[in-house]
Amino acid sequence: MIKIIKIYNMDCMDGMKYIKNESINCIITSPPYNLKGDFHTFVNGKRVTYGDYKGFKDNLPEEVYQSHQTTFLNECYRILKNDGFMFYNHKNRIINGSIISPLDWIQKTKFNIYQIVVLNLKSTANVDKRRFFPVHELLFILNKNNKTKLNNVECLTDVWEMKKVPRKITGHPATFHVMLPERCIKSATKEGDIVLDPYMGVGTTAIACINNNRNYIGFEISTTYCDIANRRIQDVVSKIE
Ligand SMILES: C[S@@+](CC[C@H](N)C(=O)[O-])C[C@H]1O[C@@H](n2cnc3c(N)ncnc32)[C@H](O)[C@@H]1O
Repeated sequence: MIKIIKIYNMDCMDGMKYIKNESINCIITSPPYNLKGDFHTFVNGKRVTYGDYKGFKDNLPEEVYQSHQTTFLNECYRILKNDGFMFYNHKNRIINGSIISPLDWIQKTKFNIYQIVVLNLKSTANVDKRRFFPVHELLFILNKNNKTKLNNVECLTDVWEMKKVPRKITGHPATFHVMLPERCIKSATKEGDIVLDPYMGVGTTAIACINNNRNYIGFEISTTYCDIANRRIQDVVSKIE
């Protein structure tokens, strides 16, 4: 039996099998982007690595990665309530000189694409002068039922400016700004709802849930990141108590 308010140190595809059909109010997540085991750029034509994941190699053949993400999204569809929303952060990647859009696999899933928000991260480590420097990512807002509506309580536009949190602060190379899950939570859930982050990283979605009185379930494959997530959660909880 899966507990709410817990991060499980396990593969999300194994963990989600224990979650009942249509039992989760909202899913907020950012999967690994299959960047071949490191976060890299090209400076003057030379490959430069600027970070990697701890305990996880992000290095699948691209077609396997896309097929895995399609299966993953359909599993999310199964456990999401019929009036729920999924927020899926990804980005356009350049592979062998061409852009690959996440739409390539999202459109193969059962989800309806409700809206796409542009995340303006304002800066990038990727300063490859062969292209304009990519400072945006995408937030795909997915739902199951086109009668379901978000509540744009903060009157936001579809471009959100927010930086990712630097690795030197959290120990993780791709941490959400807490504003991202908070905006999702406020627009798509109510107090007491259950929010799942299957790729929980260092716990930002859980922190956003605690700040807004929502319950959370998380999966994270790396023990190092699980430990950091639990420490960050303890810090937040001890400030509330
Ligand atoms: C983009 S990061 C998520 C960061 C998170 N949003 C945060 O703010 O900390 C993706 C995470 O997924 C984890 N991961 C990769 N494969 C996984 C899997 N099969 N199941 C669970 N976690 C996985 C990685 O270790 C990494 O921490």
